[in-house]
Formats: sequence, C-alpha cells, structure tokens
Amino acid sequence: MIDPIERPAAVPRHVAIVMDGNGRWAKKRYMPRFFGHKQGVDALVRTVLACADRGVEYLTVFAFSSENWKRPSEEVSGLMGLVLVAVSKYLAKLAGDGVRVRIVGDRAQVSDKLREAWQHAEDSTRHNTRINLSVAFNYGGRWDIVQACRQAMAAGIRPEELDEERLNSYMALSYAPDPDLFIRTGGEVRISNFLLWQAAYSELVFTDCLWPEFGTAELDAALAQYARRERRFGAVPSRALATSGS
Ligand code: FPP
Repeated sequence: MIDPIERPAAVPRHVAIVMDGNGRWAKKRYMPRFFGHKQGVDALVRTVLACADRGVEYLTVFAFSSENWKRPSEEVSGLMGLVLVAVSKYLAKLAGDGVRVRIVGDRAQVSDKLREAWQHAEDSTRHNTRINLSVAFNYGGRWDIVQACRQAMAAGIRPEELDEERLNSYMALSYAPDPDLFIRTGGEVRISNFLLWQAAYSELVFTDCLWPEFGTAELDAALAQYARRERRFGAVPSRALATSGS
C-alpha cells in the first residue's frame, strides 16, 4: 500500500503565484512598464481559467504588495487604475465561468472607488464554486500575521488559548487550505513576503518565464514538477524507515 504521505497528489488544491516580470517583459519590447502590467492581467485571466480546467480549487495571486507603494507614483496609480479597468473588463466573464473572487490585504489605504470595485467583485461572485480566486492586494505576509494577532487580542483570547489553528482562523486566507504549490515567475528565487504563514509546507517552483508570457505550457510544467515531489510535512519517509529496519 502506498503511504498517503508519499502519494503524489496529482493536482494541487491550492496554487499561489507571485506574478513577477511584467516590467522586464515590457522593457524588452521598448514599451512602458504599464504595458507589461496590462498584459499581466490577461495572463492572470487565462491562468485562472486554466487552473479551473485542471481541477485546482484555490488560486491566490500577489497583485500588489505592502512594499509596492515604494514604486514611482505613476506606476502605483497606473496599477490602481488598471485594477478598476480589469474589474469592469473581466468580472462578468470570470463570474460566468464560475470563479469566486476575494480580495485579501489591507483595504484601508486604497481609494473608495477601488474598495467599491472589490466589494462588487466579491458580492457578484459570492455563490460561485468552480474555483476560488484570491487577489492579494496591499498584502504582505508579515502584515497578515500582525493583523491576525491583533484580531485575536481584540477578541480577548488569552495567550494560553492561542494555538496555530486559532491564529489561522484570523488570517486573511482562513477560508482556504494552505497552498500546496507556490509558483514565482520572473527568475527571482525568493518569497518576497507573500503568504509567510500559509506557505510553510508549500512546494516551491521558480521559473524564468516572465509573467505576461505565462500560459498553459508553463502552468502544466509547474503542475508536473509538483506531481513529482514527495510531500512529507516534516515526517520521515516510509522508504527511509524501511531501510533502517524500523
Ligand atoms: C511584478 O512585476 C508585478 C506586479 C507588481 C504587479 C502584478 C499585477 C498584475 C499582473 C495585474 C493584476 C491585476 C489585477 C486585476 C489583480 P514587476 O513590475 O516587478 O516586473 P519586473 O520585476 O520585471 O520589474
């Protein structure tokens, strides 16, 4: 019998993606960075649908980090505007395709207009069940841990009552299982403050592909790498136990 810990789960339930490389993709074409972000939205829409087709239940993408405010103000306002355009251009399609949209991150700093667009996206897809798309916007893994601790403290939870499960219930992605597969495009090999708590046991896949070029071939390559991984969650593989005679 195959040890359930070692059985490769063919399809990850939850995929997380750092969509990096938009700026470089645009630069290679002598275009402004904004053009890369615009193409990045198209890549996101095709990836959501491709993930749904492959049976992925949750897709979480890093669209704007707590640190991205440090970018030039034209780029920041361009990204904010792009999100509004993307919601009006693609929401109906995603909703029709059974995508449930949620936004995770600190909404306090974004404009009223953007907050309303997010609310509309969440409300109008609330009953969809094919795939859960979580867009991390003004999000940081450290921010998430701090906001969860604050909520727990505000709820009057005593230190001895707090455990991992309880703290997780206050985290931004408490409705989702932890990501099984964490993909970063764009050639950098780091996590960059994305899902620090939730990615503790995620399988990491880094690809040089720039995000606007990410398509079904790159997704399938990442899924194939994932399917070959042996997930142990800190346990000893049964193969090792067998050879040591225990
Ligand atoms: C990183 O590329 C990408 C971002 C900071 C933005 C990602 C956003 C999108 C793909 C659009 C999301 C839209 C919606 C509707 C959620 P980079 O600019 O750091 O690229 P570089 O590393 O090549 O400079």
